[in-house]
Amino acid sequence: MTAIVDRNPTDTGGGRLAPLLERLSRQSVSKGHNVYADIAWDEADMAISAADPRVGLFAFDPLASTDWYRAQDAAVQQAVGLHRIAAAMKVGMQFENLLQRGLLSYAMRMDNGDPEFRYCQHEVIEEAQHSMMFQELVNRTGLPVEGMPVGIRTLATIAVPIINRLAPELFFVLVLGGEDPIDYLQRRQLREGTTHPLIERVMRIHVNEEARHIAYARTVLKERVPALSRTRRYLLSLSVPFVLSIMVPLMVDAPGQLAKHHGVPSEVLREARLTPEARLLRKESVAKLRRLCRELGLMNRSAVRTWRRVGLYQRDLDQVAEAA
Ligand SMILES: [Fe+2]
Ligand SMILES: [Fe+2]
Repeated sequence: MTAIVDRNPTDTGGGRLAPLLERLSRQSVSKGHNVYADIAWDEADMAISAADPRVGLFAFDPLASTDWYRAQDAAVQQAVGLHRIAAAMKVGMQFENLLQRGLLSYAMRMDNGDPEFRYCQHEVIEEAQHSMMFQELVNRTGLPVEGMPVGIRTLATIAVPIINRLAPELFFVLVLGGEDPIDYLQRRQLREGTTHPLIERVMRIHVNEEARHIAYARTVLKERVPALSRTRRYLLSLSVPFVLSIMVPLMVDAPGQLAKHHGVPSEVLREARLTPEARLLRKESVAKLRRLCRELGLMNRSAVRTWRRVGLYQRDLDQVAEAA
């Protein structure tokens, strides 16, 4: 059995990873998407614009509950709603880009015959498809959508390959830190509301494929974390809530650019971020990840304090995540 140079030898072979990789690789072939063949971008019903009554904010978006939003006419609500979804897709595209860089650098270090190489490449290809899908949707809205703040984007571009090399377990936390909140929001949007058919098609493709990516990242963590030294496990336990405190608002909160482009007052955006519903939404978006951390022994007292300090801790929600 060959192994990745920096991986503990107990990680491959008899563990959960090898059979999962085989199954996921097979599914990537049989169920994978080509987003330009599988989405009818040019069909009349798929045309998307702020004039469409189906593009307002999702009902559970905290911004949708503000007095300001409720007082706007349909045209403003639709413009805000479409910009909000397109901005989330842009952040999603940038996250996919960073994820591909990390996976490519991870795959580069694998030996001949390592089954993880094939699955990593399948995932890179799928994330490339998602990047194109998200960017195509943004382009079709015609909106001047911005993604992550430049500082975060620049830092992440430099840091991701380094983290991936020095602390692969933290890299897989970053993977879930992006994938879990996006997946949570998209599943909820598909379950609870009606939306534009193009947005729905994009979300369904993404949710289907992310199930494989999430299973992979979770299993890698289950294999790797128990093999870490106590010190590395402790450092990881504190890093998780810290990195999530940066990633979750990027994925979950309404972006500041709505003020610049649609005149949403900054204090309304702030009010929407601070409501109990918004706090709960951020906590819910990482409930599965929080539960995984508990399973992996990453919820020591200092870690719980950090989770609480960044506003992402809630024990009750983890039972819900278990049932979901
Ligand atoms: Fe993706
Ligand atoms: Fe993914």
